[in-house]
Amino acid sequence: MKIIVAKDYEDMSRKAFGVMSQVVRDNPQAVLGLATGTTPLGLYRLMIEDHRLNGTSYGGVKTVNLDEYVGLTADHNQSYAYFMRKNLFDGLDIDPASTNIENGAAGDLPRECARYDALLDEMRQDIQLLGLGSNGHIAFNEPGTPFGSGTHEVRLAQSTINDNSRLFDRVEDVPVSALTMGPRNIMNAKKILVLASGENKARAVYGAVKGEVTESLPASILQRHPDCTFIIDEAAAKLL
Ligand code: GLP
Repeated sequence: MKIIVAKDYEDMSRKAFGVMSQVVRDNPQAVLGLATGTTPLGLYRLMIEDHRLNGTSYGGVKTVNLDEYVGLTADHNQSYAYFMRKNLFDGLDIDPASTNIENGAAGDLPRECARYDALLDEMRQDIQLLGLGSNGHIAFNEPGTPFGSGTHEVRLAQSTINDNSRLFDRVEDVPVSALTMGPRNIMNAKKILVLASGENKARAVYGAVKGEVTESLPASILQRHPDCTFIIDEAAAKLL
């Protein structure tokens, strides 16, 4: 596990861009595992800027996203599918058909999870980007998720609903469940890049990096990955 402490959010985003763009340069057909949340937004802006200014092409790249809310269609403005189009894909030359995310509006959710799991087995991520929940969750794997889980439906922890309610008009509008890659799918990535910014992530970062490896703090499993880098700002590194 490699820990890089950045000065602030901008510096974290620049350093993350360095890692991500290297993966795409090394392999223009790379499979990128992507994440939602406010943490990767700076990185996504830099990817778009680099594409515009330097012509870096994503024409051969494929993507798989971590998770999606249950009950929201891909055109709902709070869905993660919409988030990805608006904050990244629309600014790149990526083929929309090469981008993948769980369908949270599928009629048969267990079947949708099995479909996504099979897809992930075929499309091993060259890099998987992750943010951290303040309770140490990765994707939507809440505390207590068995490390061996693949893609599954999860009932969101109340703390996650509260954290994510800032992006909704009312807390009651936040979906109560989601489909998520499991820890097994995340650990299958060749390389993992974790970003965290701000003091409210400091405890989760500490647990992930220095705590016991335990299912009560899902991000602690990352200690077992052979190529995992944390890029965190000083506030998130406060307890290390
Ligand atoms: C959600 C997502 C996670 C993300 C987390 C942190 O719960 N499912 O993948 O890492 O939020 O979000 P933020 O980056 O906004 O703090």
